[in-house]
Amino acid sequence: MNTTNTNFLSTKHDNPYCRVAEVMPSLLSGKSILDACCGSRMFWFDKSNPAVLFADIRNENHILCDGRELNIEPDLQMDFRNMPFSDNTFKMVVFDPPHLKSLGKESWMGKKYGILNETWKQDIKQGFDECMRVLEPFGTLIFKWNEDQIKVSEILSVVGYVPLIGHKSGKSAKTHWMSFMKGVCNEA
Ligand SMILES: C[S@@+](CC[C@H](N)C(=O)[O-])C[C@H]1O[C@@H](n2cnc3c(N)ncnc32)[C@H](O)[C@@H]1O
Repeated sequence: MNTTNTNFLSTKHDNPYCRVAEVMPSLLSGKSILDACCGSRMFWFDKSNPAVLFADIRNENHILCDGRELNIEPDLQMDFRNMPFSDNTFKMVVFDPPHLKSLGKESWMGKKYGILNETWKQDIKQGFDECMRVLEPFGTLIFKWNEDQIKVSEILSVVGYVPLIGHKSGKSAKTHWMSFMKGVCNEA
């Protein structure tokens, strides 16, 4: 059985800002990992790991109702639906997009995790495809999804890929960690 997909080798991308490495070479220097929507970097053991480029569409600070600070301060403000990187840039991409669609904008969960737009299916699909595009061949994509409002089976049919392995976590096991590899045949 052929388990290698080589379609990605001819990816063409028309993002005019594709050349971030040329415009801001220092931004990518030593960065082999991209966190495409880092939020406040809660799940990182080392929140300043020099191998990681932390990106998010927001750059904002909040005080939560319990008085704690919530700082979303990415290295790069960008939209994961249209990333400013050339194809095959990173060895690993971490993708933990918003997973809630019914949520007050001012709620602390909304501030922490962001909120899905009405166009969420298209947004997540574009984001996932961008993660794959900027990964090196045989690079790893780590995808996290909480199925409180949208089931894992639904989000996987939206992204169109089948994970290699997956693991549930949390008290009610609603958070799923999944991994994919670019170029290995894992399209649904
Ligand atoms: C679930 S949170 C990430 C939490 C993060 N993994 C952590 O450990 O703290 C999702 C993040 O996606 C960001 N986001 C939403 N839409 C985005 C987009 N189009 N491009 C980039 N980031 C986006 C939100 O601002 C939010 O910070």
